[in-house]
Amino acid sequence: MSSRTSDVLVIGGGIIGLVTAWRAAQRGLATAVVDPAPGGGAAQVAAGMLAAVTELHYGEETLLGLNLASARRYPDFAAELTGLTGHDLGYRRCGTLAVALDSDDRAHLRELHALQQRHGLESEWLSGRECRRLEPMLAPGVRGGLRVDGDHQIDPRRLAAALVVACERSGVVFHRVQAERLDVAGDRAVGVTTADGTGLRAERVVLAAGSLSGRLAGVPPNVLPPVRPVKGQVLRLTVPPRYAPFLSRTVRAVVRGGPLYLVPRENGELVVGATSEELGWDTTVTAGGVYELLRDAHELVPGITELPLTETRAGLRPGSPDNAPLLGPSALAGLLLATGHYRNGVLLTPVTGDVLAHALVTGELPEEARPFTPRRFGAARTEQLEQPV
Ligand code: GLY
Repeated sequence: MSSRTSDVLVIGGGIIGLVTAWRAAQRGLATAVVDPAPGGGAAQVAAGMLAAVTELHYGEETLLGLNLASARRYPDFAAELTGLTGHDLGYRRCGTLAVALDSDDRAHLRELHALQQRHGLESEWLSGRECRRLEPMLAPGVRGGLRVDGDHQIDPRRLAAALVVACERSGVVFHRVQAERLDVAGDRAVGVTTADGTGLRAERVVLAAGSLSGRLAGVPPNVLPPVRPVKGQVLRLTVPPRYAPFLSRTVRAVVRGGPLYLVPRENGELVVGATSEELGWDTTVTAGGVYELLRDAHELVPGITELPLTETRAGLRPGSPDNAPLLGPSALAGLLLATGHYRNGVLLTPVTGDVLAHALVTGELPEEARPFTPRRFGAARTEQLEQPV
């Protein structure tokens, strides 16, 4: 079949692939994206929290630096994207309140507060009464909370749609077909073969296919990213005008050890998420998943059961062994990775576009992204592959 050539071919048209393609095209590179449905992927399910501070975890301090760098870029990034496309992204600088429902939760939140303070992050401890003054729909039993005015939200579906338009306006070519396999010639990635047998050729290939990145045929085993799907079930409810404002900011909690969040949009949508399940490629919405989310959300905000439930959906986060993304050149010449963003894909979209464009133009990772080189997993994977079975 015919073969079409570009400077850069991005495998995957989710938000990470799209932002990479957009930024590459802006740098003057002839860029193409291969994806049967650009703008789809995990962004269609994600809530869109930009929660660098409230999603801080022990052991993820290196990731914190990248998360904060991306959060700082969001105002300019959103303004640029809206300016180019005319799309409203639902970017809402509303802040976040993380609350505790019992004394164990409160102890956990105190620990998080201490960790945030050690890193010089802005967050304020509030009593239960102060939390309810900010958000009157919270349950009377709320025991305290953390107010983080710098953790915002965006609507990932609008973000994805705007990125498709930004790519089109910047001259990115879309091949609306599945990439079946990576093609390698002489120890170098040279393109892909698509489901209809077409060969797409490129100087550089970027693998940005979310959780699918870990199983693309043709990628040498020592290069294949160690990315796995982590299922998240998410609910969407609607706040009728007579109940508005139901919540004025994102509200989070840890209920029975699992994170729960409620993200209120300006258009009345209320997103409730999310389960975290290691079930392979399963995207079934289960009665149990919906039950647990509603039960926990009801403990936090009892009035939620009055709201119409408008959508239930499950998506797959691309999890990596250290919960951080894999960015930049891989061990295979001509192949770069932009995957493994796990819980932070929406937050990390601006910085990923900049980092990959820099890597495509210079062949190097910028300083801030060096800890996220895919090569950090190389030695361990090579050893694993060499183990006798
Ligand atoms: N960042 C939220 C989630 O992954 O559920």
